[in-house]
Amino acid sequence: MMNRRIFGRLMQAGALVLAGGLGLAGAAAADTVKVGIIGPFSGPFALQGKNFQAGVEAWLAQNGKSVAGHDVEIVYRDLPAANPQQARALAQELIVRDKVQYLGGVYFTPDAMAITPLLKQGNVPLVIFNAATSAIMTSSPLVVRTSFTTAQTTTPLGKAVVDRGVRKFVTAVTDYGPGVDAEIAFKKAVEAAGGQVVETIRMPLNTTEFSPIMQRIRDAGAQGVFAFLPSGPPTLGFVKSFNDTGLKQGGVKLFATGDLTQESDLPALGEAASGMITGFHYAVSHDSDANRRFVAAAEKAIGGPGQLSFPAVGAYDGMYVIAKMIAATGGKQDAEKAVEAVKGLAWESPRGPVRIDPETRHITQTIYLREVAKDDKGHWINKEIQSFPEQADPGLAK
Ligand code: PHB
Repeated sequence: MMNRRIFGRLMQAGALVLAGGLGLAGAAAADTVKVGIIGPFSGPFALQGKNFQAGVEAWLAQNGKSVAGHDVEIVYRDLPAANPQQARALAQELIVRDKVQYLGGVYFTPDAMAITPLLKQGNVPLVIFNAATSAIMTSSPLVVRTSFTTAQTTTPLGKAVVDRGVRKFVTAVTDYGPGVDAEIAFKKAVEAAGGQVVETIRMPLNTTEFSPIMQRIRDAGAQGVFAFLPSGPPTLGFVKSFNDTGLKQGGVKLFATGDLTQESDLPALGEAASGMITGFHYAVSHDSDANRRFVAAAEKAIGGPGQLSFPAVGAYDGMYVIAKMIAATGGKQDAEKAVEAVKGLAWESPRGPVRIDPETRHITQTIYLREVAKDDKGHWINKEIQSFPEQADPGLAK
């Protein structure tokens, strides 16, 4: 009878042969580089996921599906809401089973935070298309971000609104990473400019009824409100409620990050959002040839006008970065080398000139002060009224 040890050795040898065979198959298949994109493709935030997809497809339509001789295959995975456990499981599955070389997407901060611990062992970079909390970048050296942070969009806004004569504010933010970052950045910027925040309100992530919040804002007696909520149903609900409860008519000014005035919501908000001043990195109406080409391709991908907003530009630029990584590594899986290759990378985005900060791996960009207004065709837009160029992320500075 064959003893167990010999049997074990034979099995081991068989496994090696098998692994050798797989290695060959792996080498032959290495001409296709897989990119896993995680985003909300269904549920209440589905339009945001659709914008990820439109950005990716616009990039592929303009640049082709082959990068430096390697075919690029996109694998989309649906993560409808902030759900760290599901985010982790999806990323794990993409890395281990689908063998993606790159991860991209991720709308919500808690999901990004759940994925970053997997990157090193998986040898996979993550290019964030949206999630906007500053601290995500410190959770792994293999993260690069092409979106924005709320500290980055809020800091110039805080100064600009005080300069425009508003002094006394209340803040209202969703009580998680990007909201807390925005609250802190706004307070800091306002106080540095000689203004004052008299009350800070934090709203649970699942808040859908905003009239009690509006009552607190009214009671605070401030001239201005600064708000951040994650773009989608919460932002639409908040701006509508601000209008419906009479705060707007009562003369209180609403300031916000551009998350609250994404272009896809403007037709539904109409006059309710009219005159709102926001700070943000991207307006669909941005006046440049690069943006006009992007908007044409992305609108085609999303299936028509009116649905496009900022997650599409994060995805489009994210694809640009991933393509540079693929070229720099010759299509081979080497996460560290890939990330190293894009540190300091600068290009013209549809939003304006941008650069990956080599220290933080976050995107340095122009932040615009914008006002919700009608264009000459009668469409609601975020009209850019002032620019703050070369803004890095101030969110990690203590
Ligand atoms: C985030 O969770 O980081 C987030 C989500 C939606 C936004 C902005 C930030 O509009």
